[in-house]
Amino acid sequence: MPRHFLKVTDLDREEILSLIDAAKANRGEQSAALAGKNLGLIFSKPSTRTRVSFTVAAYHLGGHCMFLSESELQLGRGETIEDTARILSGYLDGVIIRTFSQRDLETFAASASVPVINGLTDERHPCQALSDLMTISEFYDDLSGVKLVYLGDGNNVAVSLMNICALVGARVAICTPEDLACPEWALAEARGLAAASGARIETTTDPESAVAGADFLYTDVWFSMGQQKVPEKKIRLQPYQINRKLLSLAKPSCRVMHCLPAHRGEEIEAAVMDGPQSIVFRQAENRLHAQKELLKLLMGNAQA
Ligand code: CP
Ligand code: NVA
Repeated sequence: MPRHFLKVTDLDREEILSLIDAAKANRGEQSAALAGKNLGLIFSKPSTRTRVSFTVAAYHLGGHCMFLSESELQLGRGETIEDTARILSGYLDGVIIRTFSQRDLETFAASASVPVINGLTDERHPCQALSDLMTISEFYDDLSGVKLVYLGDGNNVAVSLMNICALVGARVAICTPEDLACPEWALAEARGLAAASGARIETTTDPESAVAGADFLYTDVWFSMGQQKVPEKKIRLQPYQINRKLLSLAKPSCRVMHCLPAHRGEEIEAAVMDGPQSIVFRQAENRLHAQKELLKLLMGNAQA
């Protein structure tokens, strides 16, 4: 059975922590860990970071990548997910998928005989969470002492961030309007993980009290790919914008994160995004380093 990465918990705590240590230690390294391997990227949504960082990661490790837009595959004309997975498994050594439904991704993985990686679904974004945790751990060795506050829409990025913090034992507060909270299944998952790790998972609707004592503030777009831009949602989310005033209520050393792409003036004020406390560009670069280690773990040549 191939090893997939469809959600954060497809890796255990120790694997995630050692992956992150390796990503920090091997930053910029090139090797032959993926020599002779061919990866396919099947994307049904746009991407800058995920597409390019995985492609470059594979090249740094001696592998090859091909980008396969869903609309140009027979998948877009009705060939089944299962048949596509079986056929591509005969040519490729791994597949990275960005799509809408987590269930479609799972269906693909169930019929694939090579590792499948989630490059974002409507429900989850686990590769983003790996690079987020790597970035946090570049500032703090002891993750149990870190307080991270996510503000805004309780979306795919929030779910995977909450999951990885719960798995490794960090403290995370998810601060959203009540009707835009993370789904109940995601909260239950995180609470289950936290019970084992000692993590503290909080949910709140009040941004000002949430950010008190925060080491990191994190936000994401208010309208994810595939969602309609409903004006009421923008109004509901306005108090959750990361701006200078909200940031001034966190620790003076607080750093600001965003998975990107950002909409300055919506979820984040331009002065914060481009200010001295922002670490968003390092966070984006870390996608490359963390994903190289993920590729090595799931499909790397031994001892390359
Ligand atoms: N953060 C992220 O996944 O960015 P892309 O949509 O550009 O891949
Ligand atoms: N929540 C965003 C993340 C983009 C990387 C989306 O799904 O569009």
